Amino acid sequence: MSSKSRWADEDPEAEAINAQRKREKEEKRRAKAEKQRQLEQQAEEAARQREAANNDTEAPPKKRRRLSNDPDTTADVQVGSAKPQENTSNILQFPTQEWGPSRHVDNFERLNHIEEGSYGWVSRAKDITTGEIVALKKLKMDNSPDGFPVTGLREIQTLLEARHPNIVLLREIVIGNKMDDVFLVMDFLEHDLKTLLDDMREPFLPSEIKTLLSQVLSGLDFLHSQWIMHRDLKTSNLLMNNRGEIKIADFGMARYYGDPPPKLTQLVVTLWYRSPELLLGAEKYGTEIDMWSIGCIFGELLTKEPLLQGKNEVDQVSKIFALTGPPTPQTWPGFRSLPNAKSLRLPQTSAPSGNPPLLPRSKFPFLTNAGLQLLSSLLALNPSSRPTTQECLSHPYFREDPRPKPKEMFPTFPSKAGMEKRRRRQTPEAPKRGQEAPRLDFASVFGGQSSGDGGETGAGFTLRLG
Ligand SMILES: Nc1ncnc2c1ncn2[C@@H]1O[C@H](COP(=O)(O)OP(=O)(O)O)[C@@H](O)[C@H]1O
Ligand SMILES: [Mg+2]
Repeated sequence: MSSKSRWADEDPEAEAINAQRKREKEEKRRAKAEKQRQLEQQAEEAARQREAANNDTEAPPKKRRRLSNDPDTTADVQVGSAKPQENTSNILQFPTQEWGPSRHVDNFERLNHIEEGSYGWVSRAKDITTGEIVALKKLKMDNSPDGFPVTGLREIQTLLEARHPNIVLLREIVIGNKMDDVFLVMDFLEHDLKTLLDDMREPFLPSEIKTLLSQVLSGLDFLHSQWIMHRDLKTSNLLMNNRGEIKIADFGMARYYGDPPPKLTQLVVTLWYRSPELLLGAEKYGTEIDMWSIGCIFGELLTKEPLLQGKNEVDQVSKIFALTGPPTPQTWPGFRSLPNAKSLRLPQTSAPSGNPPLLPRSKFPFLTNAGLQLLSSLLALNPSSRPTTQECLSHPYFREDPRPKPKEMFPTFPSKAGMEKRRRRQTPEAPKRGQEAPRLDFASVFGGQSSGDGGETGAGFTLRLG
């Protein structure tokens, strides 16, 4: 009997260990290759979508995707998928997008802060791999003690759906070290309209205003056609590059709506751009609130100053009525039934002519009649008197002289966002998400006794109590 060597005894075990190690190595290699493949696929997909967004300049907006396998719509649904359409069953198909694992924010070199607002964090950064300059926005994680906030998801979801030349492009989402460090990587644009207007000595020319306004309207038209309300349109959320292109940004308040509209929070839109129906407590509202904000932006482009700078809600309503004249049962039937309108005491005035009435010409001396008519309709107190984006875009204002200036002819401006950390002039912010709208006492709007908070009332004009 030959005595077995101790070492010989252990050989099979060692071999097993070796084999196991090999297997593990092989698995790791495969996982790495798979990860790489996914990253490449993701990059390809992003590039394809960027290209699609760029090529899509004049294409008419598509209606919101239908989640059916209707042959007319499946092409839409299969965005980015090279697979031929095999499935002909009646099963609902949901749009799928292939997203690999998110990259880490360390793939970007931060160059400078653009904006450090009360609850925003945006910086200019360089993609280390490609050298491209982008904007990085840290997602706000308020009101989310347990997990990812639904509002953050909405910002991502609506932006992902909103691919249009006049909407800022979301390139990808990257993560930081902590669970809730999530960043949006967007195309970088040199300016926002608010900072630009603050720095300009003179307002834009009438022909430039037309180009800017029609681009904002095109972006918004696309959003509304996709059943998305923006709910925070204002000049600081409109970005502009040095090629005369303007893009709608900041989807922090955006959401889908339905028909009939669901009950929605009333505390939306930054005060100066907030519509009268929201201020008066309407529980149901629609895209008309965005159209009101467009009216405010149009006015701001004309005068270079925000149009209606209320100090609080009561003062805001008061300033609105000072500009438009108070509502009447003819111009806004049913406004009395809005929750905050009950305390509103209106003066006996002769009914303003026109429905909606024209705004005072003296306020906008350089605007043509067609322009004043468009502005007055956007700032109609009655939401149903406001035009849709389509109606605005086909308005004679855009076709009369001076014609919209070609984008290529736009002047360029030095970019603050591109160079230094800065703070903007103090202006109101959008309402904090998840807050309840306060009960407001509007008795003071026309100089009544009870004042909401001691703010200025009456907007510099006096009216008898009704
Ligand atoms: N893609 C971008 N390119 C350049 N600047 C940007 C970009 N996105 C945002 N900014 C700047 O950062 C500011 C704040 O961004 P925004 O998305 O509006 O966040 P917030 O929710 O804090 O208002 C904007 O007003 C603009 O000045
Ligand atoms: Mg903003």
